Amino acid sequence: MAISGSTSDIRQVPCYGLPARVLHWSMAVLVLMMTAAGIIMTQDGISRDVQNSLFIFHKNVGVLMILLIAIRLGIRFTQPPPPEPETLPRWQARIASLTHVALYALLIVMPIAGYVRVKAGGFPIEGLDAMGVPSLVPRSDELASVAKAVHFYGGRLLVLLVLVHIGAALFHAVIKRDGVFQRMWPMSAAQHAQSK
Ligand code: HEM
Repeated sequence: MAISGSTSDIRQVPCYGLPARVLHWSMAVLVLMMTAAGIIMTQDGISRDVQNSLFIFHKNVGVLMILLIAIRLGIRFTQPPPPEPETLPRWQARIASLTHVALYALLIVMPIAGYVRVKAGGFPIEGLDAMGVPSLVPRSDELASVAKAVHFYGGRLLVLLVLVHIGAALFHAVIKRDGVFQRMWPMSAAQHAQSK
């Protein structure tokens, strides 16, 4: 039985492997939380306690994301994504792949810029400090301010790309129904041929 409302037999579309799908959705949630926390904690007029908690969350979870992104890249290189459905026009596949490269690049740049901004600025990252991890960058106001600008503009670009990415995913899920969305959907594994 094909997934309801599907115009094509999307059972035959191979999925991403389970680790890639689990990481994709965990990181999607984390990126949304990080972005929301980043925007809220930098607003004027929020209470000091809320601001401090958000900063602690943002810095420490953000550093953890460096690890998740490294694992994600490792999976991407060792388990190449399944081929696009043949029905996908070449230009759309090209735009999708450029968007994915840009998203990966920003997911690497953002936490690193955040780390450099905080450590070069002389501020704590509570989790790393508690474990005795020394700063990997020197204390420097100039470096901190360059990293701050990279983090600021990178955050805007990331939001833009995530919106494009979500728009494209919904286009495939709701309008085209060609199985592209289901390749990454965690729950539909049983209905799809596994790529691995
Ligand atoms: C994927 C990971 C991350 C994302 C998506 C992200 C996103 C953001 C966003 C959207 C802002 C608001 C920018 C603004 O309007 O000023 C922000 C601010 C900030 N972020 Fe991140 N961030 C990430 C990782 C990190 C990490 C790892 C650190 C530090 C260890 C960090 C430290 C900061 C700081 C200190 C600010 C306040 C603005 C400033 O003083 O530079 N971020 N972040």
